Amino acid sequence: MTNIGVFDTGLGGLSVLSELIKKKNANYFYLGDSKRAPYGSRDEAEIIKFADEIVNFLEEYDIDEYVIACNTISVIATDYLSEKYKKKFYPIPIYGIKQASKYSGDFMVLGTEATVNSHYYKHYLETPGKSKVYEVAARNLVPLIEEGIIEGKEIDDNLKKYLSIANEKKIPNLILACTHYPIIKEAIKKNLTYNANIINPATCLASEVNFYETEKNNIDIFFTEINDSTKIIIDKFIDTDYSLKLKEI
Ligand code: DGL
Repeated sequence: MTNIGVFDTGLGGLSVLSELIKKKNANYFYLGDSKRAPYGSRDEAEIIKFADEIVNFLEEYDIDEYVIACNTISVIATDYLSEKYKKKFYPIPIYGIKQASKYSGDFMVLGTEATVNSHYYKHYLETPGKSKVYEVAARNLVPLIEEGIIEGKEIDDNLKKYLSIANEKKIPNLILACTHYPIIKEAIKKNLTYNANIINPATCLASEVNFYETEKNNIDIFFTEINDSTKIIIDKFIDTDYSLKLKEI
């Protein structure tokens, strides 16, 4: 039996869960902390505290390994969680870097403030004279997506602003360094004025995580807040049976 804990600050991690269930069978336990999202503009101590509370809740389900389906939590709290729980935690940015390394030229990292301020992607991908890494903190996107706004004028206006450097410099590679952004991938494509390689770290993660598979998937989804858009976004990503429960943590 393989119990895999997957967690995010909210809806974004569903874009990771959807890649995982396509490639690896397991008993998945997903927690999205929508009630307290976004985490990206919170300080490190608070992000660690909240991540700890999420894992503490998931521990009730005899989790064997965890996928941190959130760049923000990964860059801030992976070491803390691994040390405290003595279990394997797969942090998504490692797979973002692996995936991005297949491409050449400059990169644009679109992420939350915490991810951008950590310069995690820049540190690994920038090579002087060869490839430059531009970083943009897209602080308005997660709150909109959590409200279920995934297209329309507000999303387009924000994307035009956040993608302006990419459009101006025709940056060939765009890394979706926040798991919420694959939810608005179509809007991102629409607001790019040229063809970029859009890199979703979750695809690489799903191919590379390594655990003993179950015969079929079993999916339990918990959210700390459920609103009208929760089920719509879940159904956009999960096209198989699942159970959904509201959970206070
Ligand atoms: N999905 C999270 C990430 O990948 C969003 C963080 C937030 O809540 O700001 O970073």
